[in-house]
Amino acid sequence: MKGIVFVKLNEFVEQTWGLACWESLLAATDLPSGGIYTSVMTYDDNEIFALIDAISKQKSLHPFEAQKTFGQWLFKELYAIAPAGVHQFNDVFGFLRAVQDVIHVEVKKLNPDVLLPEFEFLEETDTALTFEYRSPRKMNYFCEGLILGLAEYVDQTITVTHLLCEHKGDKKSVIRVDKC
Ligand code: HEM
Repeated sequence: MKGIVFVKLNEFVEQTWGLACWESLLAATDLPSGGIYTSVMTYDDNEIFALIDAISKQKSLHPFEAQKTFGQWLFKELYAIAPAGVHQFNDVFGFLRAVQDVIHVEVKKLNPDVLLPEFEFLEETDTALTFEYRSPRKMNYFCEGLILGLAEYVDQTITVTHLLCEHKGDKKSVIRVDKC
């Protein structure tokens, strides 16, 4: 996972729970990097999961809830570094399509070592969008958080449902977003 995500996780923890919390997370985890992150580097995925686990233990949050909360906070930070041209989208469904078709494509061009999720759009109406989330990382709850952060950003009220979830025995993860 790219260093930017770790740098932002550090910021998220410090803003939400303070510097002492970040330090106690580092003390509770055995990270090959020592917890010193820079944006341009790539770190082992296990480090993000170890930190999320430590957050969930220390803050009594389910790990999925911790991923979701971080994703929701992170959206505006990723939006700020998104390629020019995507800032015209002010709708959750249009933006999600742009993530798959433009944003993550550009991110991959700039950083060939990134591993980005694939979204396969299955159905869209005026009020509902359903897509399959594919990634070996199975971060579908982090994905939910990013979508909630996006909705806040564009001032739309939505709900997110995990119609199928690989963590619950399904063979794939399918997410449905409803506009309320
Ligand atoms: C609602 C909007 C977005 C959604 C739903 C989304 C979804 C995701 C998810 C779920 C991941 C975790 C990796 C995985 O699942 O394998 C991810 C990673 C990432 N995304 Fe997005 N994303 C969004 C917007 C953006 C934006 C605006 C940027 C800006 C450049 C961005 C850049 C990245 C980067 C750099 C990573 C880390 C990849 C890696 O380290 O391998 N995303 N995204």
